[in-house]
Amino acid sequence: MSDRVFVTRSIPESGLARIREQADCNVWPEQLPPDASRLAEISAGCTGIVTLLSDRIDAAFFDAVGPQLKVVSNFAVGYNNIDVAEATRRGIAVGNTPDVLTDATADVAVGLLLAAARCFREGIENVAQLAWKTWEPMGFIGQDLAGKTLGIVGMGRIGAATAARLRHGWNMDVVYTSRSPKPEVDDQLQARRVELNELLQISDFISVHTDLNPQTERLFDAAAFDRMKSTSVLVNTSRGGVLDQAALAAALANGQIFAAGLDVTDPEPLPSDSELHELPNCVILPHIGSGTVAARDAMAQIAADNVLLGMAGKPLRHPVNPS
Ligand code: DGY
Repeated sequence: MSDRVFVTRSIPESGLARIREQADCNVWPEQLPPDASRLAEISAGCTGIVTLLSDRIDAAFFDAVGPQLKVVSNFAVGYNNIDVAEATRRGIAVGNTPDVLTDATADVAVGLLLAAARCFREGIENVAQLAWKTWEPMGFIGQDLAGKTLGIVGMGRIGAATAARLRHGWNMDVVYTSRSPKPEVDDQLQARRVELNELLQISDFISVHTDLNPQTERLFDAAAFDRMKSTSVLVNTSRGGVLDQAALAAALANGQIFAAGLDVTDPEPLPSDSELHELPNCVILPHIGSGTVAARDAMAQIAADNVLLGMAGKPLRHPVNPS
């Protein structure tokens, strides 16, 4: 009997076709994710699951799916939606899709930084609402990028790719936080590793790339915004939970920081009553960091490889937990 795989949303055919060749593959056809009980119900009896960052994969899910489950292949580089410790305890392999979305996500980080620094949201809304009357010498005044200080919170692959763009393109000075020193980044970008408080105080632009974990949850709270420059611009392309959104809204509304650009929120989508919707200095995108044809195709291929290798009892192409 062939392995059964459940893919929790439609992903590019480059990956799906590969899974279909080797397994009995069922794909959730709807745009919105199945709720937790439906997800568990459909996944019951599967040996492999391909999940998205919006699927909560935890002990209750593993109990419902059954002991034959060998692998969870997340269609994302981040995997905070999965209880990896619990999967490891049960001998279930977990895989992710790093590297292939680094450039795509770094491009969005830079795009958001520019958009927030140069008042794109106010400008676009002004035009769309037919409120544009004349060229305004005193209107839509933003911040320069060239030669400013960039703080990268989380100097992993995407943080480094974002820093490289801004160092080489706008000659920014780069400082960063990271769990470990990054001598290659220091050399290539003349960057300096600092403590978070120093980064908050000296940076003109801050780009967040850390993963979401108990140490980074609500890392940007009211105290962090207090330390930042009133001219600073904050960009987040990692996970919404790294920011305290109420504190961010207050900081944006009272001029504690200049602007923010968010590709991620908590929850997603942002609730309709969130104050962030009302703030013209907050540019918000619907989590599109990895959204290019090449990146999503490559993610689908890695997700397929991970699930097929895991079901075959082989090491995954990109494992998250120890084998
Ligand atoms: C990821 O991969 O973790 C992104 O957030 C979505 O591509």
